[in-house]
Amino acid sequence: MTTYDIALIGFGGVNRTLAELIATRGDELSLKLGFGLRVVAITDLRLGSLVQAGGIDLAAAFRLDPGVETFAACGGSAEPDNEHVIRTCPADIICEATFTNPTDGEPAASHVRWALESGKSVCTTNKGPVALHGAELAELARRNGLGFEFEGAVMSGTPVLRFAKQLLPGLALNGFEGILNGTSNYVLGRMEEGLSFDESVREAQQRGYAEADPTADIEGYDVQLKVLILANELLGADLTLADVQRQGISALTHQVLSRAAGQGRRWKLVGSARRNPDGTVSAGVAPAALPLDHGLAGVSGANNAVSFNTDLLGPVTVSGPGAGRVETAYALLSDIIAMHGARNQVATNA
Ligand code: HSE
Repeated sequence: MTTYDIALIGFGGVNRTLAELIATRGDELSLKLGFGLRVVAITDLRLGSLVQAGGIDLAAAFRLDPGVETFAACGGSAEPDNEHVIRTCPADIICEATFTNPTDGEPAASHVRWALESGKSVCTTNKGPVALHGAELAELARRNGLGFEFEGAVMSGTPVLRFAKQLLPGLALNGFEGILNGTSNYVLGRMEEGLSFDESVREAQQRGYAEADPTADIEGYDVQLKVLILANELLGADLTLADVQRQGISALTHQVLSRAAGQGRRWKLVGSARRNPDGTVSAGVAPAALPLDHGLAGVSGANNAVSFNTDLLGPVTVSGPGAGRVETAYALLSDIIAMHGARNQVATNA
C-alpha cells in the first residue's frame, strides 16, 4: 500500500488535529482510503522544527508545551527554519496551515512556492496564497506535475470548491451569495441572544473559529479573500483583492439586531459575486438584513452556506461547517484523498 510522507507547516490547531487523526485513526483510515500517512517533518513558530525520515513520534510531539518547550527536546531544533525544512525534508506532501496574511499572503505563499519548487505537492487551508497568488501557484504545480489543493480555504472541510468544479458539469455559474465566515456568523447569533460583542468574539476564539487576529473575521477581510477565491476559481474571473468591495459587522449593535428581529429580518454578513451582462464579474462583502424566509437567514452558529446561481438548475446551495479545527483538518485530509485519486487516474490512463 502507498504511504505518503507528509510535512506539517504550522503546528497550531489545524495541523495538530490532522496529526491527532493520523495518530488515533491512521490504521482505520488507511484501510478505508487505500493509502497510509506518515508525518516526517513539522515546523512551528513556537516549537521550532523536527525532521525524522522514519516517521515522527507524534505522541512525543503532542506532549511538548509550546512557548515553554521546543522540538530541541525531541532531537529537532528550536528554530522553525521553514525554507530549509520545506526544501530538504523527505516529504511527498506539504500541509500548509500557518496563519492567513490577508495583505500579501506571506510567509505562506513562499512555503507553497518552496514546496512546489522542490518537488512536493501542497495542500493548504491558508486563504492568503490561494486568493492572492492562486493562478501563479497553480501554474507552478502544473508545470512540475504536482498537486496543489486548497479545499479548506473556503468553508473549512465542507467541499464547496470540489462540489462546484466536479458535481455541476455543463452548468453555467452566473454568481453566488453566501455566508462564508463562521466567526462573524457565530458572533451575530450570540449577540442576537443577548451576549455582548466582546463576549461573543471571545467565545468564537475559544471554539477555534476565529483567525489569529479576529479583525479579519469581523471586518470582512476573511470573506473578501474567500469571495475572491470563489469568483476566480469558479466563475473564471480575474479579480484582485481591491476589486472585492468590503464592509464588516462592527457597526451592528444588539439594538440594530433586535430591531431587525422585530421586523422579521436577521442580519448576516453576505459575500457575493455576479456575472454582468458584459461578462465582467462584480464581487463584494457586506452585512444585509435578510428576511427570515431567505435561504441564508437560517444558517446559524459557525455554519456557512453558498448558493450558486446556475443557468439550468437555478440556485444550488452547499451548506456545512465553515470553521473549526477538526472541520479544517478534514479539509487537508480531503485534499490528500483528491491528490491520491488524481495520481491513480494518471496511472490508469498511462
Ligand atoms: N476564521 C474563519 C471563520 C476560519 O471564522 O470562518 C475559516 O476560514
